[in-house]
Amino acid sequence: MGQIQLNQVTKSFGDVQVIPPLDLTIEDGEFCVFVGPSGCGKSTLLRLIAGLEDVSSGHIAINGKDATMTPPAKRGLAMVFQSYALYPHMTVRKNIAFPMKMAGMSEDEQKRRIDAAATALNLTDYLDRKPGQLSGGQRQRVAIGRSIVREPDAFLFDEPLSNLDAALRVGMRLEISELHERLQTTMIYVTHDQVEAMTMADKIVVLRSGYIEQVGSPLDLYHAPRNKFVAGFIGSPKMNLIEGPEAAKHEAHTIGIRPEHIDVSKTEGTWKGVVGVAEHLGSDTFIHVHDTGLADMITVRIIGDIEAKHGDTVYLTPQLDQMHRFDDKGLRIA
Ligand SMILES: Nc1ncnc2c1ncn2[C@@H]1O[C@H](COP(=O)(O)OP(=O)(O)OP(=O)(O)O)[C@@H](O)[C@H]1O
Ligand SMILES: [Mg+2]
Repeated sequence: MGQIQLNQVTKSFGDVQVIPPLDLTIEDGEFCVFVGPSGCGKSTLLRLIAGLEDVSSGHIAINGKDATMTPPAKRGLAMVFQSYALYPHMTVRKNIAFPMKMAGMSEDEQKRRIDAAATALNLTDYLDRKPGQLSGGQRQRVAIGRSIVREPDAFLFDEPLSNLDAALRVGMRLEISELHERLQTTMIYVTHDQVEAMTMADKIVVLRSGYIEQVGSPLDLYHAPRNKFVAGFIGSPKMNLIEGPEAAKHEAHTIGIRPEHIDVSKTEGTWKGVVGVAEHLGSDTFIHVHDTGLADMITVRIIGDIEAKHGDTVYLTPQLDQMHRFDDKGLRIA
C-alpha cells in the first residue's frame, strides 16, 4: 500500500512561500514524476512528503492516515538521493544490510532481503565488492538496494541519475522503470529532465514556482498541454509558439506546433523560410528555420536524414490537426 495525499499543503521558508496551497493525490503503485525548472519546489515537495521538512500548513495522508506529524522513519517511505552516500569501507552486502542491522532484524531475514534486492538490481555478482570498485551506475543501484530492503510503501527519488553520464542515465532509467514493473510499489521521482518524465511516469506533475501547472499522463501533457508553459516544457525539441497574424487566422493569441508536426518541402508549402542550422542526428534531422516572419526561429523535426544546409530556402506546412491554440493568458483553447 502506498497512497499519498496532500491536502492544502503549504511551505514557507521565512516570509517566502515556496509552495502555495497544493492538493495532490498519488495512487498506490503509481509512478509519479515531479518535473519543472530549477527552484520550482520539486525537492521541497518531496522532502515534505518524506517528513524531512515540516509543512507550514495543510495535511499529508499516507494510506488514508494523517501522517503530517509522523517522523520520517515512521512514514514507511524510502528516499533515494542524487548523492548516494555509501560507506566506503563496507562491502555492498554490508552497505545494503546497514539499515536492517540498525533496526535489529534477524540475520535470516536480512539475507533474504539482500538476496531479493540484489537479484532485482543485478547486483548479485558485486555483493562482496566495496563501493570504490563499482561504477557510478552500480553505486546508484546499491543506494536503491539499501532502500528496497526496507520494503517501503513508496520510494522517493530526488534526481537520482543526475550524477551519471548520458549513457548510464538511459540504462538506469530503464532499470528503475523495470524495478517499478516488478515491485509495483509507489514511486515518486523528481527530475528536471522532461525525457525522464515522459518515459518513466504513469503521472507527471508539472510544477512552476510551487504551483501545479498540470497533472496528467505523459501523453495527456503532450497532446493537450493546459497552457503555454506546459506546452513548452514537455516535448523535445520544444513546441514552436507563434503569435500575431498567423495565430489570429486560427482565432488564437498564440498557436503552438511541435517540430515533428511540420512538413518540409523545397518547393511549396504554407510558410517560407531559410535554414539556419541543420542538426543531423542520423535517426532524425532538426532544422532551425529563420526569416519566416512568424517567430525568431521555427524548429522542424524530420524522421531520418534529409539534405538541408545553411542558407537553403525551405517551405513549411504545419499539420493543422496537430496545432495547439492558446488565448492571451496562455491558456489552451479547447
Ligand atoms: N532551507 C531553505 N531555506 C530557504 N529557502 C529554501 C530552502 N530550501 C529551498 N529553498 C527555496 O525554495 C525554492 C524551491 O527549492 P527546491 O530545492 O524545492 O527546488 P527544486 O525544484 O528542487 O530545484 P532544483 O531543480 O534546482 O533541485 C527555491 O527558491 C529555494 O531557494
Ligand atoms: Mg531539487
